[in-house]
Amino acid sequence: MRERIEKLKAKLAEDLKSTSDLKELENLRVRYLGKKGEITLLMRRMGEVSAEERPLLGKLLNELKKNAERSFVDKRGEFENKHSADRWEKERIDVTLPGRSFSIGGKHPVTLVLEEIEEIFTSMGFKIAEGPDVELDYYNFEALNMPREHPARDMQDSFYINPEVLLRTHTSPVEVRTMEAQAPELPVRIISPGKVYRRDDDVTHSPMFHQVEGLVVDRGITLADLKGTLLLFVREMFGKDREIRLRPSFFPFTEPSAEVDISCIVCNGKGCRVCGGTGWLEILGSGMSHPHVLRVSGYNPEEVTGYAFGMGVERIAMLKYGIEDIRLFYTNDLRMLSQC
Ligand code: DAH
Repeated sequence: MRERIEKLKAKLAEDLKSTSDLKELENLRVRYLGKKGEITLLMRRMGEVSAEERPLLGKLLNELKKNAERSFVDKRGEFENKHSADRWEKERIDVTLPGRSFSIGGKHPVTLVLEEIEEIFTSMGFKIAEGPDVELDYYNFEALNMPREHPARDMQDSFYINPEVLLRTHTSPVEVRTMEAQAPELPVRIISPGKVYRRDDDVTHSPMFHQVEGLVVDRGITLADLKGTLLLFVREMFGKDREIRLRPSFFPFTEPSAEVDISCIVCNGKGCRVCGGTGWLEILGSGMSHPHVLRVSGYNPEEVTGYAFGMGVERIAMLKYGIEDIRLFYTNDLRMLSQC
């Protein structure tokens, strides 16, 4: 028995020396220490040894086992270190090479214009309000004085999800949602930027685009407040020489309603190709809040008045950056995006 132990010890040392990788090492470990490994089997045979011999042989065998276990752990460590050293050799980094520069990109022109609009209005005391893109027919049309079958609905060809739910066609529903949440507190003074959706698709119309809605409700608000605020906005946005003009128009949720034009930013009002020779560019719709809208939103139209406006962000970005095709905003062409 003692001889077997000595032999096994020598054999193990030999075998360990000749292993060359982790896989071989593991096979070897199983051969010695596994359930049917040589050392394990030998330990099972301790029962056959006489009582006098047992303490000494037991001790030797235990030592053999302990040493074997330690050797396997050490050897494994060796292989692993060697493995990472090899990798280091292969993938060595040359720290003297110049770094690779990477571009961090920039903001989308629509985002830039949106942020500018928000900045101008928040500096005038407006708060930012938001509403859902998937909207109820009630808020998108009904509450805005456009009942079912109202012909004004034809101006906004819509994506319906079911008869009660659609993708909002404008940001005006946020007017009603904001007032509902705030009534009867005054003043209401918000802008609401966001995406809107219409079944339109050509050089100046996209099925998804952005609008910014504005709404002010308080005692004694007049058309002069609307005009003054918009003039200030336009001069901040397009330059201090800009003039505006209010053209009578129709929207079911405002009365009276007006379309707002700015003096052409290209020819300064003389008439050119961009403004179609008129000297004016249309930039938004506006008006005094219709009593129906105020009433359904929780305000008494006998006590308060309000004005509202809505502008298309892409349209403003197109004017500002001289872009002629709205689809350029959505095709991710860096040649165009990096110019804004
Ligand atoms: N919601 C209108 C549209 O998308 C734009 C608009 C017009 C908004 C007049 C207003 C407004 O708030 O008063 O065509």
